[in-house]
Amino acid sequence: MQDSMVSRRDFIKFMAQAGVVSAGLSSATACQLNPKSTLLPFQPLPPTAYDNLSLAKGFRWSILLKELDPINSTQVFGSNNDYTQFIPLANKPDEGILWVNHESTLTLFTSGYDHKSKGQKRTIEQVDKEQNMVGGSLVHIKKSNNKWALVKNSPYNRRLTGKTKINFANNKTILGHKYAVGTIANCAGGKTPWNTILTSEENYQNYYGDIELLGKNRSFASAPKSRDYQWWRFYKYPPEHYGWVVEVNPLTGVAKKHTSMGRFSHECATTIKASDGRCVVYSADDKSDQCLYKFISDRPNSLNNGELFVADTINGRWISLDRSKSPLLKKHFTSQTQINTYTRKAAHLVGGTPLDRPEDIAIHPTTGNVFATLTGNPKRKNFYGSILKIEPTGGHHTSQSFKASEFLSGGERTGFSNPDNIAFDKKGNLWLCSDISTRKLLRGSYKPFLNNSLFYIPLSGPNSGHVYRVAAGPTDSELTGVSFSPDFKTIFLSIQHPGENSRAHKKPTSNFPHMGHPHPLSCVVTITGPTLDRLMS
Ligand code: FEO
Ligand code: CA
Ligand code: CA
Ligand code: CA
Repeated sequence: MQDSMVSRRDFIKFMAQAGVVSAGLSSATACQLNPKSTLLPFQPLPPTAYDNLSLAKGFRWSILLKELDPINSTQVFGSNNDYTQFIPLANKPDEGILWVNHESTLTLFTSGYDHKSKGQKRTIEQVDKEQNMVGGSLVHIKKSNNKWALVKNSPYNRRLTGKTKINFANNKTILGHKYAVGTIANCAGGKTPWNTILTSEENYQNYYGDIELLGKNRSFASAPKSRDYQWWRFYKYPPEHYGWVVEVNPLTGVAKKHTSMGRFSHECATTIKASDGRCVVYSADDKSDQCLYKFISDRPNSLNNGELFVADTINGRWISLDRSKSPLLKKHFTSQTQINTYTRKAAHLVGGTPLDRPEDIAIHPTTGNVFATLTGNPKRKNFYGSILKIEPTGGHHTSQSFKASEFLSGGERTGFSNPDNIAFDKKGNLWLCSDISTRKLLRGSYKPFLNNSLFYIPLSGPNSGHVYRVAAGPTDSELTGVSFSPDFKTIFLSIQHPGENSRAHKKPTSNFPHMGHPHPLSCVVTITGPTLDRLMS
């Protein structure tokens, strides 16, 4: 249905009509074009600024699910979808359960509350609506006649929301409670070797504020602000109940919040099975000057217990956050649970390296090298971000040392800015989503990149390290949650927060997906087509 292809000629015509051709734009367009044009993997899409999903030639898209679609008799698909992960049923490549994160919600459309305006009246009814739109979805999907669709009335279709009670794993008690109410700020995630989902709670501070330790006392590190979501006005949940990695059984929907992997703005939880069967989980704290982490479970098939490390990327070593091994940590913390609850403080005490907002992490399928996006940090004049490569010593993910180097940096030369979500395909080539923040899109030095995009980056062959734009999102959107079906014939992709800059309900900046709804809707789309088939063959 929504097949969309934009030729270079159409694009230039559009840009000329729109009056936005500039020296900077030409430069970013040119940088997409590899001089070895006869060897191009495909003709890349130029930077694009339509209020639509635009794709390079030979790719097709179709909406799988959009915000507010009913998934069962009582629940709807949530908002601002992010991480996607397909779990096949009975090993079928074309039928399974898709997990989808719902990171946040555009309150203007969900509840009528404009959190960017001062003096707005806030009601519990608004907050309840918003809580029901975040968390995650489990949806049973199936491909028939080359089209993916929801299996209606499947018992696998269910929601986790900002209201779902979720126990802490391992019978832990956090601030006097064995459970938390809700999972929130679910950004990226991971899949365990035993086929459960990991969903990462990222910017939790926007809902209930944040607490850190000042000396040995709890103190508001990020006091609830008058212009944030203000859920704290009606629900007095401890901030320490959020910022964890949550494990979800896709068959039953049963979830648990793990405290073993620490608490911070968890962007992701990327797993790999070590040669001895233990599970290694890489994670990143998406905040300026925060760190990269690794967790090693103490046994196969469980994340309940293990050792957490923070990366010293300057000296190439993983530093343990185990209290029993560190006199410094013993001095500042009364228990391991306290370290895991206020992880940032512990990480900086022991020498974790502050990074420029580490985001998603992907592990190369054959080399085992770990790639982490650093989305940028204007305060340190890193405007466009980069991709960090970590080579574990001896190729062992349980190793205590590694070599760190920059794989690629964003900017007009490479054609991308602010790298965020990444995934490797079966051939070991990288798929990268950019996340230029909505307030910077199409402005200043970000103008040449136009709308946020999906890129393909070969890691081998004559085009190795070159960057090719596959897709560009609609107005104000971020493309995210890129993942593949098991046969690599389908890409699942989240079109997140189109119209995010809207300031009036009746005047949205985007009408995506242009299906007559009064406000824009986030969607999960499938991408297929002959170019994808060729790249995967
Ligand atoms: Fe939710 Fe760091 O992206
Ligand atoms: Ca996002
Ligand atoms: Ca992200
Ligand atoms: Ca981001």
